[in-house]
Amino acid sequence: MKHKIIVTGGCGYIGSHTVVELIENNYEVVILDDLSNSSEETLGRIEKITKVKPTFINIDLKNVAETLQVFNKHKDAKAVINFAALKAVGESVQKPLMYYKNNLYSLLNTLSAQLENGINGFIFSSSATVYGTPETLPITEENETQRPFSAYGNTKKIAEEILDDFIKSNNAFSAISLRYFNPIGAHESGLIGELPSGIPNNLMPYITQTAVGIREKLMVYGNDYPTKDGTPIRDYIHVVDLAKAHVLAVERIIKKEQDQPLEVFNLGTGNGFSVLDVINSFEEVSNLKLNYEITDRRSGDVPQLYAATDLAKEKLGWTANKSLNEMISSSWKWEQKLRNNK
Ligand code: NAD
Ligand code: WQD
Repeated sequence: MKHKIIVTGGCGYIGSHTVVELIENNYEVVILDDLSNSSEETLGRIEKITKVKPTFINIDLKNVAETLQVFNKHKDAKAVINFAALKAVGESVQKPLMYYKNNLYSLLNTLSAQLENGINGFIFSSSATVYGTPETLPITEENETQRPFSAYGNTKKIAEEILDDFIKSNNAFSAISLRYFNPIGAHESGLIGELPSGIPNNLMPYITQTAVGIREKLMVYGNDYPTKDGTPIRDYIHVVDLAKAHVLAVERIIKKEQDQPLEVFNLGTGNGFSVLDVINSFEEVSNLKLNYEITDRRSGDVPQLYAATDLAKEKLGWTANKSLNEMISSSWKWEQKLRNNK
């Protein structure tokens, strides 16, 4: 029997890759998305890859009544994977209320609708941003969380706290919070990938958009950090590796394998790469010279973030497999296909 999984934000970047992995692992998927940062076209692309068109419901999860109605119809679902959120760090500093409303109302409505319908499994998209500026590296799940710099980041920290309280009040419920490091890359088909709206905030789409000529040049935010080449270090992780971890997390919940009702796992490779490493790797993979310039630091950036990955390996049986060059070449393939409209 196929297990049904509700995927909120399933038309988005990480959601769409996870939907593909779920379908390929024989799950039935129901996507809930308001398409505020994605396109319905993604559904056809998922179908092209998997030969299955997932059920799609266009819904804004901030709407209490509609959320409840949809969950009533799908009360046979085994778990929810909650990707739905706004994620632009800079915008969240300008419009904090919009971020708190969107990310937290939709979380609260989803949990309430699950409670009402006895859907007791939940997987949350958290972020390494909850670690703030870590004092020790690599970052383990035991590292203290800190109030993140941005309102966006704070929605993740608050969401984890909400989950913790909710779990303590309901012993039938189980949840896994996955703290992603820096997801990049795209599906090998080149059919799905990241679709930033407007000017990208993140490094990888900025690089590929510069290389295709949409952006004039990449600004590298600072080369005076205490790192090997002065640019910040991050743990870039291939989105397909990330997607596979969600399937393992779903399995762990369904098979009731959890050690505690709320578990937290870092999802990274454990390897740190600097901004200049990423640029060099892009130039190698694409055979192009990237137009870039060193400029001032961006406020809120931390010098170094990379994950300890032992817990996810031990408990989920998951490790990231793909190299930095594979991540970057898949991002590049996606960008080129997107621009050639193939
Ligand atoms: P994305 O913007 O591509 O996907 C999010 C999806 O949620 C979009 O399709 C959007 O339309 C939908 N959505 C937003 N608000 C909604 C609402 N109120 N109702 C219904 N749908 C709504 O983002 P992504 O990169 O795929 O990120 C997925 C999740 O992972 C987010 O929660 C994000 O905060 C988290 N995350 C992302 C990163 C990253 O770098 N991409 C890193 C850490 C955590
Ligand atoms: C990576 C490095 C920049 C753009 C953000 C969020 C985090 C998570 C992932 C959601 C940094 C440098 C970037 C540019 C640059 N998202 N950079 N020029 O900041 O590590 O994490 O995305 O949860 O919460 O904060 O990722 O890709 O923006 O930056 O030099 O135009 O690239 O300074 O060192 P970041 P990023």
